[in-house]
Amino acid sequence: MQTLTVDLGDRSYPIHIGAGLLDQAGLILPHLAQKRAVVVTNTTIAPLYLERLTSTLAAAGVAATSVVLPDGEAYKNWETLNLIFDALLTQRAERKTTLIALGGGVIGDMTGFAAACYQRGMPFIQIPTTLLSQVDSSVGGKTGINHPLGKNMIGAFYQPKLVLADTDTLKTLPARELSAGLAEVIKYGLIWDADFLAWLEANMPKLRALDPAAITHAIYRSCEIKAQVVGQDEREGGIRAILNLGHTFGHAIETGMGYGNWLHGEAVAAGMVLAAQTSQRLGWLSEGDVARTRALIRAAGLPDVAPDLGVETWLDYMGHDKKVEGGKLRFVLLKKLGEAVITADVPAGVLTDVLTQPQ
Ligand code: NAD
Ligand code: GLY
Repeated sequence: MQTLTVDLGDRSYPIHIGAGLLDQAGLILPHLAQKRAVVVTNTTIAPLYLERLTSTLAAAGVAATSVVLPDGEAYKNWETLNLIFDALLTQRAERKTTLIALGGGVIGDMTGFAAACYQRGMPFIQIPTTLLSQVDSSVGGKTGINHPLGKNMIGAFYQPKLVLADTDTLKTLPARELSAGLAEVIKYGLIWDADFLAWLEANMPKLRALDPAAITHAIYRSCEIKAQVVGQDEREGGIRAILNLGHTFGHAIETGMGYGNWLHGEAVAAGMVLAAQTSQRLGWLSEGDVARTRALIRAAGLPDVAPDLGVETWLDYMGHDKKVEGGKLRFVLLKKLGEAVITADVPAGVLTDVLTQPQ
């Protein structure tokens, strides 16, 4: 097992990464304020891992109940969130009861938001079971739900007490979902670490085959970069926005194509290509850099061409981005491979060109 810490003063927390962690109650117990927990999961993950987790907790004397939600991005909304509150109230959960998210980013984001709201805040733990959630969404405290007009528009910053990433759970993950997680892994290389990017280029087949050493390294390095950025800027006043490379375009794809049709990671992958192309137009990346980015995205089994939403639709959905300031859209682009930049100065003509002919 490898461990690192998200350093946020008295709200710091560990991320444990390794195989078989679902069986280790000793990792969870120190983080429970009372020996009571409610596990939130979904209809796909429950048959795979719920019994195992609740048995682990029961053996350690923790009374654990569960809420099983419908599966899918399309359910990341108020109605589904309310099912968590219904269960917490029906089961008379207390303020010191811990909410445990067992699942991917959809479950993690909704559970975290429910924890932030229930009785004005109850503790919660992230047990991410997708690659995307192990490298990104379970870390850093962004929680929330979608609105029909915009992705992740309703939410709160609310940090977990612990992140437990059991790499064994990735064995049941569909290949398409594994690729979606690789999009966020590639993101860290593009925005922060050119050496890691080169390592990803050399190791992509191993990662797709879930080679234990390779996948653990990719998760560890991704979490390390995310923890470093979040430790500097928890509430995205500045640098944290670089973690959104490709997301302004990607969120427009997700909303425009209908939640769940393009996976989040797929939309981010195509969005990162658009960000790279925009960076090239601004003279920062070379044609070769863009080709390298696209090749890595393709090697990960991801789309490198965005759907043609039409410029008006693109701009409309991108206008709902959380990085909009004073009505002006801000973009995360690349100064070079391994270094991100945040800018509002993208000439309209450049943007229109990039969006007009996604290719
Ligand atoms: P997801 O939660 O929808 O999970 C993907 C699919 O895999 C689902 O069908 C799920 O039931 C299934 N699944 C999960 N674990 C499994 C396992 N071990 N075996 C088999 N099937 C399994 O999608 P995701 O990619 O994990 O997360 C995407 C969400 O995360 C989006 O809503 C996105 O907005 C959010 N996100 C949040 C942050 C953040 O910082 N909070 C960062 C990135 C993404
Ligand atoms: N996924 C972007 C962030 O956590 O800030």
